[in-house]
Amino acid sequence: MSGRPPVALVTGGGSGIGAACCRRLSRAGYRVTVADIDEAAAKTVAADVGGVAAVVDCADADAVDDLVGTVVRTEGRLAAAVNSAGVAGPPQPVAEYSTQDWRRVLSVNLDGVFHCVRAEVRAMRESGGNIVNIASVFAAVGAPLAPAYTAAKHGVVGLTRSAALAHAEDGIRVNAVGPGFVRTPLLEDRNDDEGLARLAGLHPVGRLGKPDDIAALAVWLCGPEAGFVTGAFFPIDGGYLSR
Ligand SMILES: NC(=O)c1ccc[n+]([C@@H]2O[C@H](COP(=O)([O-])OP(=O)(O)OC[C@H]3O[C@@H](n4cnc5c(N)ncnc54)[C@H](O)[C@@H]3O)[C@@H](O)[C@H]2O)c1
Repeated sequence: MSGRPPVALVTGGGSGIGAACCRRLSRAGYRVTVADIDEAAAKTVAADVGGVAAVVDCADADAVDDLVGTVVRTEGRLAAAVNSAGVAGPPQPVAEYSTQDWRRVLSVNLDGVFHCVRAEVRAMRESGGNIVNIASVFAAVGAPLAPAYTAAKHGVVGLTRSAALAHAEDGIRVNAVGPGFVRTPLLEDRNDDEGLARLAGLHPVGRLGKPDDIAALAVWLCGPEAGFVTGAFFPIDGGYLSR
């Protein structure tokens, strides 16, 4: 690769799927900004990939605008972005769900992705780029104990399609991926070994996803081989949605 490396931004890059995306993007030759609300986690992954750490709360539109502005100013043209920051929310049915929890989950998992996509598209409008939003299998089916998470992830796919349509002519591709259950802190914090084994059993392939399974698809979507792919939603779920 000649000249400066292409620049990538990963939100939620300090852990799990986002961290795996940082590692793969780095191996693919990108200079990566690892953005996370958890500064220590962002710094650890950034050191690991020879990238830049940034602290951001994706629920804060101004903070996201500042982040993307800083990336462009200090690193150069934004070529790729993976929006992975997300939270789970409490396991409650809709009847028990508090407005406060609903707002918190939507503010990160849907508003946050909107803030990121808007800022990223503005940064890419002149010379194109690729955006991948990390949705979930719960963008395609319901989850009785995750009404806010499910609503947000369905929303992410709608946002993905609309952004892809609006900016195809600008050379910007926008896609979403839908992981099944992936072994990350988000899952491990809420499930003991027995729970994780039960979740693994929901996948016809008989195991949980690994963060790198998801990163492989996300990074492929950022690359030239995916040049004809936009506005798409890709389940990556060990067969979960085919049951
Ligand atoms: N793990 C799974 O089973 C699974 C399945 C499907 C989809 N997902 C999605 O994948 C994405 C990544 O999840 P993960 O499993 O890697 O979780 P994770 O908890 O390992 O990582 C999420 C990261 O996002 C960061 N984050 C949280 N809120 C933030 C905010 N407001 N601003 C910036 N950063 C914030 C966290 O600090 C953390 O580092 C999420 O969008 C999640 O919904 C996860």
